[in-house]
This record gives sequence, structure tokens and C-alpha cells, in this order.
Amino acid sequence: MRVFLFFISVLFAVPGVMAEQSPIRISTDDIDLILSVSSTNGRLYQAYLGPRLLNDADVASIASQSSLLKAEVYPGSGAEDYYEPALAVAHNDGNLTSILTYVSSETRKIDDNVVETSIRLADKVYPLEVTLYYTSFARENVIKTRSEIRHREKKPVTLRRYASSMLYFESASYHLAEFSGDWAKEMRRSVQELQFGKKILETKLGSRSAMHVYPFFELGFGEAPGENRGQALLGTIAWTGNFQFTFEVDDAGKLRLISSINPYASEYELKPDETFSTPDFIFTLSNAGTGQASRNLHDWARAYQLKDGQGDRLTLLNNWEATGFRFDENILEGLMKEAAQLGVDMFLLDDGWFGNKYPRANDRAGLGDWDVTREKLPHGIPHLVKSAEAAGVKFGIWIEPEMLNPKSELNEQHPDWAIRLPNRETYYFRNQLVLDMSNPKVQDYVFGVVDKIMQENPTLAYFKWDCNSPITNIYSPYLKEKQTQLYINHVRGVYNVFQRVKAKYPELPMMLCSGGGARCDYEALKYFTEFWCSDNTDPVERIYIQWGYSQFLPVKSMAAHVTSWNKQASIKFRTDVAMMCKLGFDISLKELDEKELAYCQLAVASYKRLKSLIFDGDFYRLLSPYENNHAAVAHVSKDKSKALLFAYDIHPRYAEKLLPVKLQGLDASRMYKVEEINLVPGTHSHLRENGKTCSGDYLMKIGLNALSSSQTTSRVIEITALPESAISLK
Ligand code: DGJ
Repeated sequence: MRVFLFFISVLFAVPGVMAEQSPIRISTDDIDLILSVSSTNGRLYQAYLGPRLLNDADVASIASQSSLLKAEVYPGSGAEDYYEPALAVAHNDGNLTSILTYVSSETRKIDDNVVETSIRLADKVYPLEVTLYYTSFARENVIKTRSEIRHREKKPVTLRRYASSMLYFESASYHLAEFSGDWAKEMRRSVQELQFGKKILETKLGSRSAMHVYPFFELGFGEAPGENRGQALLGTIAWTGNFQFTFEVDDAGKLRLISSINPYASEYELKPDETFSTPDFIFTLSNAGTGQASRNLHDWARAYQLKDGQGDRLTLLNNWEATGFRFDENILEGLMKEAAQLGVDMFLLDDGWFGNKYPRANDRAGLGDWDVTREKLPHGIPHLVKSAEAAGVKFGIWIEPEMLNPKSELNEQHPDWAIRLPNRETYYFRNQLVLDMSNPKVQDYVFGVVDKIMQENPTLAYFKWDCNSPITNIYSPYLKEKQTQLYINHVRGVYNVFQRVKAKYPELPMMLCSGGGARCDYEALKYFTEFWCSDNTDPVERIYIQWGYSQFLPVKSMAAHVTSWNKQASIKFRTDVAMMCKLGFDISLKELDEKELAYCQLAVASYKRLKSLIFDGDFYRLLSPYENNHAAVAHVSKDKSKALLFAYDIHPRYAEKLLPVKLQGLDASRMYKVEEINLVPGTHSHLRENGKTCSGDYLMKIGLNALSSSQTTSRVIEITALPESAISLK
């Protein structure tokens, strides 16, 4: 393993290293994180992070040398380390130093796969304690870390820095893949080499996890993170607010990684005996590139994090792109029938159904007034639910309960519920303000929005929960002089509501949305079955966006809809792109001709037949759109009996060399039937291997001629193992 070899070899050469306390070993099937306590100063150091070590003696050996590495696991301030600390506290006497030494540790086996290690550290001079938690998921090779800070000083202390975790790496070079973007251009991946000094990825958006920067990164060691080669660490922080990743290369060439809530404008007054809990930092490490690392995270998320991670998902028809705010009962009922005609499970009513004094006829009014607009929908939501059910589909609804328009009754009744400055001109992002979720009354109100709709419509099947504005005009009327608590308490208030909704409606599927894909973090996804990746549904753009999110998130959580964005691309191409993820439609069928409709119906039927493979299989990114004029991905069932290949021609060049697409993850010794599906009625497959039987070995080493030289075309290929088809490779 290249990253840490240098580290180890230098240490072995150092004589006279003192023996230390037994190492703390946090392991998964393939990873070891080894910490150890220095016998000279009692502090906790990182000895090793890398592929799992085979011999206990080697673990002891590397641990015994750890303090030489100067990789203190949770450095406070004021000691000999002059780099960014994990913790910074202003004590009651004004002293800014904290030095933590080891007190005790405990390892708790939660089940056969999950182990939680907690390590208590304390300051010898001040009654301040930090407990570090590491939860390891053996099979998924994922480690989750967080910390808890508490104290017993007489008065509150001020927390200025409060990292979730700090990790160290040593390698010839470090290559960071970051994900940037904005509305309609989410999750654009770019890679840079880290040099001496700091690189910070952070947000100051308050009420969402992303926009401009996304809470995800990849690290490659010695080379850029590759899809199928090299060592790659993928990390993310589970926080639906301001986050900060600090990558700091020190004078010795070590990389220090601090993951944290962004401390910007967020000094936290921690009362005696109160516990400050940081968000989880979640990471995985793979020796076979980012592809394997992504599959680790997908498996982990489905098993442990995502709401109903193992469950099914509903296909749907949404009305946003088809109607915007311009609809009435007739139009909606027409769309419900179209949903049934398409064969999807549900009709989803989007923005624009509420507000009476200030009807939500556009985005300038009504937000906050969650009563149905009587003039537009005279028979209310219960009637729409019934109409949908009569048409043969379920009914879901859009809400954005954490916001208000200044033009709303809510604003008239509770002007102090919104975050806004009392003494400056107000700046509006999409004509709205964020409600002050640090206020418990506001939390009750927001919970009440969902609860009321559910009480009145017990068979309502789905919520799309939007959040279109970051926090603007940062001032909480509720927190008064404690403004530096706002960013943190606001997010905690959001979680309070999410928790209550999930506790009361545990089975209810919900889509997380934030003006496109600005809410996509793993803490929020505990409460949501899926998220909206982007308002940009141009299939070409979507290939890149979905490619980006799939690095960290399972495709069953990624809502992808067929719309009219980029009508130059065929309905087949648009649908084939959406089918790679969680399929929906947001289009009026009136826009489709007979053949196109027939195609969509066929695709929905195929999707329903194959969705367990898409949702719960292993996802392989085969051909990157960043490196090719094409893209290809495949889902492979866990038992390797079935695969689904999606091949896209984005903008092929004239007479370009077209290479076969090589599958991955199949059983080399089985025979598979190859069949192109999703063909437009009346057309035939041009796939050379269509209808043939090939070995898994052939499919992975030689591949399928699944690409073409036509712009925005696509092929979906079903690959099915023949029963009992093990072949002899001789
Ligand atoms: C932003 C979302 O991303 C869209 O899908 C849509 O729901 C609008 N908000 C509605 O205002």
C-alpha cells in the first residue's frame, strides 16, 4: 500500500522508541484505523490508516511508534502543533488553550457487522472532556466518526472549533476531487493536486447542505483518484447546514483532514454539563479506486442510513414541468389519468396549490399559508387524493414548510418567525425568507404542516419537501443576543421536525429537494427515501449530474425525471437516462406522439420488472462522460445473475473509434443471454451481440458493442445468466 509505506519505513528505522499502551484498533473487513496513546505525554495519536494489517504484531509495532508521527487525533489549541486544531475553546478565565489526554476507551459490538469504539479524552487543567466515537461497518468498509464535547466549568465556555474528526495521511502526493456547482449545474467533479498549505471546502448557506460546494470529496494518493485503480478515500459530512472540510498539507508533507460544522459566525456557548454533539463524518477507503468506494457507500447507505434503504420506491408523474403554477382540478385530473396510462405508481402535485388571501399563483406569494387555494381547487386535497385513486394511482404532494413569502398570512401573523434583520434592508432569495427553526414554536408549526395534511388525507402516499432559499439576512428574533448559535440551532431545529415526522409516519416515502439538488447530505437522508438531483433534466447534463452524485449516493435515492428539457434528444434518450436512477416523469403525455407514448409505457413496464436490480444491485460506472464522448453504467445483481447496461452516446465525433463496453462484476464462469430492451416500437436492435449468449468472461474482457456514432442515442441491455450455466474456462 503506497500511501503509508514511507511512513512505516521511516519509523522502523528510528531506534529507542518507547513502548506505549495497547493500541485502539478500529477495523472493517479491509481497513484499519489504529490509534495509540503516548506513554510520554498521555495524548492520543493516529498510528495508521490504510488497508487492514494481517498481523497483530505489526499493529502493536506501528502503534508503539505513533507519537513520533505527531498525528494527534483530536488536537486542541496551545500545544506544540501549529496547524489547524480540531478543538478551540475559550475557558471561563479567558484562557484559550486546551490539551486533551487519554482517559479510557470502550469497544461495543453492536452486532456481527457493526462495532462502536468510544474514547474519552480530558484536559488536565480544565474540567473539559471530549468523547470520540468511531462506528465501523465491517462488510461495507465504512467508518463513521463524531465527537462529543462537555465541561464542568462554572459558566458556559465558548466553543470556537469543534471538529467531527481529524485524519492524517502520508503519501507522495494528494489529489482532491471536489464537487462544485449551483442551481441546474450540480455536482461537477474536478480534481486538483494539493500542495503545501490549506484548501478549504465549505458552505455558509445555513439551511441546506450544498450549492456552489457539495459536502463530498474524494482523495487519491500518489495519483488522481481513479475509477478502478489506486487508493481512494471518499468522505462526506452528515450535516444539513454549513460544513467545512480543511485539507492541510504540513511542512513534513503530511495531509491533515479536518471535518466539521463550519465554525464561521458560529461560536457556541456551551453550558456546564451540556453535550455538544458534532455531525458524523463518514468515510470509506478502497484499494481499487472510487468505483469500489462508491459501492461501499451505497451498501452502507441502503443498510444503515437512508430512510427505508432496503425498500421499494414509487415511480411517479409530477406536474411541475408540465404546468408550473398554472393548473386547476381538471388539468390535474387529466394528468392523473395520464399517470395511470403511463403505468407509474403515483401522481405528484407540485408547488402552487395553496394560499387564499395571497394565492400561490407564482413564487412571489402564499408560501407559509398551507390551506388549499379554494378558487383553484374548490374541492380541496381530499378530493384530489380520491381522484388519483379513482384513476388508479397514488397521490403525493409538494410542500416547502420551512419558508415564507413576505406576502403571506403567516408573515402577517408571525413577523418574528422568519430569519431577517431588524435594521437593514431585506434581501430575498426567490422572494422568500427562511423560518427560524431555532424557535420551538416554529418547529411545531412546521411539523404541523405535514401532520395536518396527513390527518386530512390518511392515504396520501408521498411528500416532496422543498427548501428553495439559503438563509439570508442572518438574524434570529428568537435567539436575540445569542446570534452565533443560529446556524447550528437552526439545523438542529430542522432535525427535530424531521425526527417527529419520521416517528409519526415511518412508512411515508419522502423526497428531499432544495431548489434542485442542494439538500443531499446523509443526515437529512435518514428521513427521506430519495432526493431531487437537479432541476436540470436535460439528459446530457443529467448524465454528468447523476455520475457525480452516484459517487456517494445509491441510485435508488436519486430522483430522475423525464421532462421536456432538451427536446432535441429523443424521448428514448431522455427516458434511458432517467432509468439509470429512480424513475419519474414530469411531462404532459400530450407532448408525445403515439409511438413515443408506447415507448414510455414499455420503459415503465421494463423499469418495474427490473427495479429491484437497479435499486439494490451493485452499481458500476463503466465509461466516464468526463473522459469520453459516451458514457456507460451498469447495475449488477448481488448474486451476479442479472445485469442491466446503460450505454449513452453523448456527442460522438465523426468516424470516431468505437470500442466495446466491458462489463464488470459478472461471474466469469457463467453464460449470459444478451438482449437489448427499451426499443422504440417498430425499431430493431443494431447491437451485434443482441440475442446471443456470452460468457461473463467474454462480457468483462471483450465487452459489448453498445456504443454508436449518433448524437444522443442510447441502448439499454439486459444481461441474464442462464440457469446452472457454469462453464469450464479451459
Ligand atoms: C424547486 C424544485 O427543484 C422544483 O422541482 C419545483 O418543485 C420548484 N422548486 C417549485 O417551486
